[in-house]
Amino acid sequence: MTLAARRVSLLEALAADHEGRAFVHAVDLGDPDNAAGLLDAARAEHGPIDVLVNNAGVQIVGPSEDTDFDAGVRLLTLNVHTPLRLTTLALPEMIARRSGTIVDVASMAAIAPTPGMLFYNASKGALAAASEGLRGEVRRHGVHVVTVYPGPVKSAMEAAAREKYQDSAAVQKVPTGTAEELARLVLRAIDKKTPRVVYPKVYGMARHFPNMTRWITDALTPELKRLPDKT
Ligand SMILES: NC(=O)c1ccc[n+]([C@@H]2O[C@H](COP(=O)([O-])OP(=O)(O)OC[C@H]3O[C@@H](n4cnc5c(N)ncnc54)[C@H](OP(=O)(O)O)[C@@H]3O)[C@@H](O)[C@H]2O)c1
Repeated sequence: MTLAARRVSLLEALAADHEGRAFVHAVDLGDPDNAAGLLDAARAEHGPIDVLVNNAGVQIVGPSEDTDFDAGVRLLTLNVHTPLRLTTLALPEMIARRSGTIVDVASMAAIAPTPGMLFYNASKGALAAASEGLRGEVRRHGVHVVTVYPGPVKSAMEAAAREKYQDSAAVQKVPTGTAEELARLVLRAIDKKTPRVVYPKVYGMARHFPNMTRWITDALTPELKRLPDKT
């Protein structure tokens, strides 16, 4: 297993559970040009890539009119351009070997875009669309694609997002999962070659009732907290 992120100390803690089988790399995936070097390092460590997991991502939550455009573009680069670069670099050898899996961690935001997440919604919609379309293209070459649609899952990102909205009874009750259970479901999807993972499971119905989902999302998403006026 090859793990990549910027904070290598966190990766090392993860790798400690897989002694001798996990390698860590400090890589800024905000620059798609770092993708090739990462894949080369992974090949040097383990041989051909069996599974590529596009998981790294950032989120911006706040009033759309206040969102810094350059920060939004950086988000799109990390959440969309880099996964697509990694995918196009990993695919030729997977196709040649007629084996391999690409896992794209999108979001429920691709199915039910959340008010207050302008660039994030755009990024996850783009990644999910690319991922769903790719599956049908590469399956004849023996390559599988898993598209992952997490709803709220406890993490630093989820906690930061929650902080940005006004508290409400609805927010307190939002079904929220754990990273460990999501990882288990993703592993099963890779193993069983299932096309997508929606987690927590209750959000699965959203795909089948898009109009109702839109209505519920708009009705239940609380107002964003407004920062005090600086003037
Ligand atoms: N948690 C949720 O509720 C939720 C829901 C839907 C989808 N997701 C998606 O799940 C994925 C993981 O999110 P999370 O909740 O675990 O968020 P998180 O706690 O903020 O973790 C984000 C991960 O991405 C890495 N990352 C961020 N910027 C990076 C960069 N420039 N280069 C390399 N790595 C970078 C981070 O490592 P470093 O900061 O050390 O680089 C960290 O490992 C994301 O794609 C997110 O959009 C999460």
